[in-house]
Amino acid sequence: MNIKELRTPCYIIDEDGLKANLAILDNLRHKTGCRILLAQKAFSIYQLYDLMGQYLDGTTASGLYEARLAHEYMPEGENHVFSPAYRPGEIDDILSLCNHIVFNSEKQLELYGARAAKSGASVGIRVNPECQTQEGHVIYDPCAPMSRLGITADNMPERLPDYVEGIHFHTLCEQNSDSLARTLDAVISRFGRYLDGSSGGSVKWINLGGGHHITRPDYDIALLEELIFKLKDKYHLEVYLEPGEAVALNCGTLLTTVLETGYNGGNIAVIDASAACHMPDVIEMPYRPPLKDSDLPGKKAYTYRLGGPSCLAGDIAGDYSFDRKLAAGDLLEFEDMAIYTMVKTNTFNGIALPDIYLKRGDEYSIIRQFGYEDFKSRL
Ligand SMILES: Cc1ncc(COP(=O)(O)O)c(C=O)c1O
Repeated sequence: MNIKELRTPCYIIDEDGLKANLAILDNLRHKTGCRILLAQKAFSIYQLYDLMGQYLDGTTASGLYEARLAHEYMPEGENHVFSPAYRPGEIDDILSLCNHIVFNSEKQLELYGARAAKSGASVGIRVNPECQTQEGHVIYDPCAPMSRLGITADNMPERLPDYVEGIHFHTLCEQNSDSLARTLDAVISRFGRYLDGSSGGSVKWINLGGGHHITRPDYDIALLEELIFKLKDKYHLEVYLEPGEAVALNCGTLLTTVLETGYNGGNIAVIDASAACHMPDVIEMPYRPPLKDSDLPGKKAYTYRLGGPSCLAGDIAGDYSFDRKLAAGDLLEFEDMAIYTMVKTNTFNGIALPDIYLKRGDEYSIIRQFGYEDFKSRL
C-alpha cells in the first residue's frame, strides 16, 4: 500500500523512528546499567510489544488491564504497576500478573503491602518530593498543591516495613535532565534516610518515573547518566526509568482528509479527524500539533482553521498556513501522534476510530481497522 491508499483518518506508526528511539534507550541501559520500562499509558500498541521488548526491560501499568496486556504480549519483561488506589476486587489478579507493585499511601501499604510481598512481588512506595519543576500544565504536575500522587515527607511512616524494597517518584512531563537533577536533590533531602536504609525497609531500587524526554534531540543524556551513576554509587540501588513519551516520540502521524472548505471571517477547513476524539491532548493540554508542509498562521499564503467533524464548536486542531488553497480530498498529516492518542480516543458523535497502520520503509501495512461495532460495543 502507498499513503494514498490508506483509509482516513488513520494513525501511521513509523517503525524506523520507533527503532531509533529504542536504540537510544537501549544504549542508556547498557551504559549505565539502569532499567527502562515502557509506560503503557502513552503507547499500548501491543502488536509492537515484541519489538519493544527486545530493547526494554519490561513495562509499567496503571492497573489491571495494562498489567494483563503486558503479561500477554511482553511476557518475558518485568511487569510493574502503580495506581493511586487499588480496587479491592482487582488486587489479587494484579498480584498474579505483576512482579513489582507501587503503593501511593501508608493506608494502601497497610491494606495490601504484606499480601503483595507474600505473593512474591517487590513492593515500592511512591513519594511526592513537593518539587515543582513544570511551568504551565498544572494537570500534568503531580507536585501541584493538594496532589493525591505520592506520600509527602510529612506523611511518611517513621520506619518502613521490612518488606518495602523500592522508592518511586514521578513528577516530570516532557522535561530535560536539569529538571530531574533538581527533583533528585529534593528527593534526597526529603527522603534520603529511606534510601540509605536508616529508616527501615530493605530498599533495593528507585524508580524515577516518566516525563524524561530522552529521545528529543536537545535532551542532555550525559547529565541523566551522571545522575544515574550518582544514585548507584551513593545508595547502591537499581535505578528504573519508566518513560512513555520518549519511547514513541515523533514516531507516528495522524493522516486526515479535507472534507469541506468554507469562509467565516477567515478560511475554514473541515477535516475527517477530530481533535476531541482523536487527539484529545490538543484540547486538554492545550497545544498546537505540528502539521507537515504547513506553517504558523499568516506565514504562508493561505491560512485555515482546521476543525473536526463533530458538533463540538471547540473541536479545532489549530490555525495553519499553506502554500496553496485547500480543497476537499486533500490529505493532511499531523505529526508526533503516536503518544497519548490511540490510548485516548473516543467515539463521541459516533465518529469512527482511526485505523492504525505500520510504516516500514515506504510500505504501509494495517495493524488494526475499526468500524461500527467498535462504537456500538462500548455502549
Ligand atoms: C507514574 C507514571 N509513570 C510514567 C509516566 C509516563 O510519563 P511520560 O509519558 O511523560 O514519559 C506517567 C505519565 O503520566 C506516570 O504517571
